[in-house]
Amino acid sequence: MSEPVIDARGLHKSYRMGRVDLHVLRGVSLSVGPGEFVAVVGASGSGKSTLLHIIGLLDEQDRGGLVLNGDDAAKLSRRRRNRIRCRDIGFIFQFYHLLGELNVLENVVLPAKVDCPAIGWLGRRRRIRAQAVELLERLGLKDRLRHRPKELSGGERQRVAIARALINSPKILLADEPTGNLDSKTGRQIMELLKTFNQAGQTIVMVTHDTDLAAAATRVLHLRDGRLK
Ligand SMILES: Nc1ncnc2c1ncn2[C@@H]1O[C@H](COP(=O)(O)OP(=O)(O)OP(=O)(O)O)[C@@H](O)[C@H]1O
Ligand SMILES: [Mg+2]
Repeated sequence: MSEPVIDARGLHKSYRMGRVDLHVLRGVSLSVGPGEFVAVVGASGSGKSTLLHIIGLLDEQDRGGLVLNGDDAAKLSRRRRNRIRCRDIGFIFQFYHLLGELNVLENVVLPAKVDCPAIGWLGRRRRIRAQAVELLERLGLKDRLRHRPKELSGGERQRVAIARALINSPKILLADEPTGNLDSKTGRQIMELLKTFNQAGQTIVMVTHDTDLAAAATRVLHLRDGRLK
């Protein structure tokens, strides 16, 4: 059996609210193999985003272990942690988080530019832009390259966010309620896209409150009372 891409063991996370501790994750264990599409379903407030942020190195657990592609997250230097977050993980946020000042193409190219020294960037610029254009074409946005996010529909924005998450060919694609702000038809289209990328080998972890959407995944888990079932 191949090594898991994500191996989380007994994750705990609490938020301190005044005098009380809100114990959100209470021992979450999750192992995801290469090429899997795992959906985590849970009610609002169950800790889905918290879990995804920890897996994506955007936040840290209080207790428990996380191994990404064989690297123990606790032992990473700051520099290596940033690198993995930038290169190996693609994150699709519920609210897109596109930069309003940049057009579609610039938004997608940005993650490839981050963490790339200026000289290196000059050499790679052309190739990355070509890759971004190809990705945007596949997502049906060929005629929107120069649009700003505010000039796009919700579904178009989410497709730009997907392109941005994929530009560095991440080993792991993390999607936080990726259709949460879309009508059901557009939502289904986005799910079809994620399925297509998964069928091409992309490892995906998606969190959602919507059991119907989770059906697109190859494995469905439920987050309840701080644990995965
Ligand atoms: N930074 C924070 N400080 C304090 N409490 C927080 C913080 N972030 C999240 N929480 C609390 O932790 C719980 C889990 O939050 P989380 O965002 O992970 O839920 P979720 O399952 O993603 O919910 P939703 O489906 O509404 O997005 C919530 O009750 C929330 O209020
Ligand atoms: Mg959430």
